[in-house]
Amino acid sequence: MSYDVAAVRARFPALGSGTAHFDGPGGSQTPDVVARAVADTLTAPIANRGSVTAAERFADDVVVGARRAVADLTAGDPRGVVFGRSATQLTYDLARVLSAQWGPDDAVVVTRLDHDANVRPWVQAARRAGATVRWADFDPATGELEPAAVAALVDERTRLVAVTGAANLIGTRPDVPAIAQHAHDAGALVWVDGVHLTAHAAVDVAALGADFFTCSPYKFLGPHLGCLVAAPHLLDPLHPDKLLPSTGAVPERFELGTLPYELLAGTTAAVDFLAGLDGAASGGRRDRLVASMAAVEAHEDRLRERVEEGLRALPGVTLWSRAKHRTPTLLVTVDGRDAADAHRFLAERGVNAPAGSFYAIEASRHLGLGDTGGLRIGLAPYSDDDDVDRLLAGLRAWTG
Ligand SMILES: Cc1ncc(COP(=O)(O)O)c(C=O)c1O
Repeated sequence: MSYDVAAVRARFPALGSGTAHFDGPGGSQTPDVVARAVADTLTAPIANRGSVTAAERFADDVVVGARRAVADLTAGDPRGVVFGRSATQLTYDLARVLSAQWGPDDAVVVTRLDHDANVRPWVQAARRAGATVRWADFDPATGELEPAAVAALVDERTRLVAVTGAANLIGTRPDVPAIAQHAHDAGALVWVDGVHLTAHAAVDVAALGADFFTCSPYKFLGPHLGCLVAAPHLLDPLHPDKLLPSTGAVPERFELGTLPYELLAGTTAAVDFLAGLDGAASGGRRDRLVASMAAVEAHEDRLRERVEEGLRALPGVTLWSRAKHRTPTLLVTVDGRDAADAHRFLAERGVNAPAGSFYAIEASRHLGLGDTGGLRIGLAPYSDDDDVDRLLAGLRAWTG
């Protein structure tokens, strides 16, 4: 394994501003190759997808290439990769079409650990169908979402279990394979929100047991759009509203209107960039992605431990990210102080760490942090020791 953070940072024009970015869980910075792929696609001769002109073929290649890239990233099937504006939009779209088959005898399971994008679409769809919503709680003391807490809510009435791959507020990585096993044993589908997870770990949708998996390239160094990864046979029987002349093929059936070709090219470039992060990795893109994401995890975990050690030395700090298995995303509050004030104080020192509940509103309330949440410190592939030094110096000055 070889991870050269200085070489990685050199590819991010935004870092030239000198700001230390701990705001990656909200959206990562973008490497030059991704920006170039977006610009090159916009400025090349391009038309709608087709096979007659070079411009049509180029658009088609971009789409096919992006489906392959996301499939490599997630070990999914490219024929089941659906692109959309955001993970939120894709979840709403699929919740609408999946719930068309639900009725009052059915139930769905959601968790209080999740971003609202994997809660509200199911709650609202269930309400419309007259189905029951069951809530799985995590333990606020440990941050753990125990598979048993989900299993207790799953029975033959359960049609779908919606669970996060990693919590964007406190980083918890639940045991999704165990949860999925319980759901599948009862005949339920498993929807995994992988938006936060995909930025920090190698994903294998089959190993997770995810029937449906969402991710958003703008969280993993790519452009602003969303992806859904599903087995094509699960998409086949689903028929969303669509225009009469538009194709009924899968996955295009789920992609309303013209795709943002330039953003798809940027997504492929982001996946290629991630695959190259471990300089010693070899083999095909999937193999290099697995090795590179392991290198990213090791890099981010080392920095996370440094941040945690620094936080422990500060007065009145509570660290809410405590699960055994988690991403390098730390939620922090300080006794009697307003996290939004820390956000502003750090920003004046060129350190970006936002405060809030980050749409994980149920999780924030369940922790007793209301809708206010806390200060979120997120590490990214481009984070380095100097960033950490500046963050800790800023927090020392703020608390001192
Ligand atoms: C865990 C998680 N799920 C879903 C979302 C929403 O993603 P999108 O903006 O693509 O809808 C986010 C965004 O912060 C997230 O962190």
